[in-house]
Amino acid sequence: MKKACVIGWPISHSRSPIIHNYWLKHYGLQGEYTRVPVPPEQLGDFIASLERQGLEGCNVTIPHKEAVFRLVTPADDMTRQLGVANTIFRRDGMTLGTSTDGEGFLLSLMAEAPCDLGAGPAVMIGAGGAATAIAAALVSAGCPEIRVANRTLEKSQLLRDRFGDAIRPVEYDSLQYALKDAVLLVNTTSLGMAGCPDLDVNLDRLPESAVVYDIIYVPLETRLLSLARQRGHRAVNGLSMLLYQAVRGFELWFGVRPQVTQELYERVAADVRGGLAT
Ligand code: ATR
Repeated sequence: MKKACVIGWPISHSRSPIIHNYWLKHYGLQGEYTRVPVPPEQLGDFIASLERQGLEGCNVTIPHKEAVFRLVTPADDMTRQLGVANTIFRRDGMTLGTSTDGEGFLLSLMAEAPCDLGAGPAVMIGAGGAATAIAAALVSAGCPEIRVANRTLEKSQLLRDRFGDAIRPVEYDSLQYALKDAVLLVNTTSLGMAGCPDLDVNLDRLPESAVVYDIIYVPLETRLLSLARQRGHRAVNGLSMLLYQAVRGFELWFGVRPQVTQELYERVAADVRGGLAT
């Protein structure tokens, strides 16, 4: 019986167990995936004891994604560059860490609203942790220009320092003008999340062919996404990213590359609709 878990502090909100236990059952695998609350001061001991606990590895969520990076060996260059890990696994006596958020973003985008990222600029709202993974993914996918509008301009400039001149910081107040010619608009901020103010953006200049992506999934349909759909844009929500970022971890721990199905989407969506506010 193979075992994995998700760790965080707090952790009760995590929907990862629904996803991984769905796949374990779907593929008829002997396994178990649980939630484990781990306070910051116990993170080092927890990671050091994975093998002793019989764990193949774990997902890592708030607030441990950066701290855990320093406790594991980065599994790939992208993770080394990002300095964060959300998926930990054991190989050849080593404890490795990888970041699957960028991959989850790209896979979900291509599955739900395929678009040619090389064909024009992307516009990203926000420049925090999620934005960093998405910026790296967009650069790696050949996006020629990523216009970053963040309330704190300096953080957009830090992204440019990290990922090069494809990153173009723009004034937050001028966001609506940056939408011209864009192939993709992504919200990575918490604006629009349950309990937060809505994101207020005028989409008039966004080409109708552009995809609008919101990494939020509580609610499943933010005001941004509903506005985008009304205007005829293809729209993708953060639940899709959550599901696709889980694929790699499951494959690493349980040895099967799982499919994201409509049934799985509906199962987690039902939990979101009926569930907690975060
Ligand atoms: P995450 O890891 O989810 O990306 P984060 O690193 O705290 O979280 O980043 C949050 C992002 O949402 C930031 O871009 C933040 O803008 P600042 O860099 O200016 O803080 C953005 N954000 C949060 N609340 C906001 C608000 N009320 N208005 C505009 N942007 C906001």
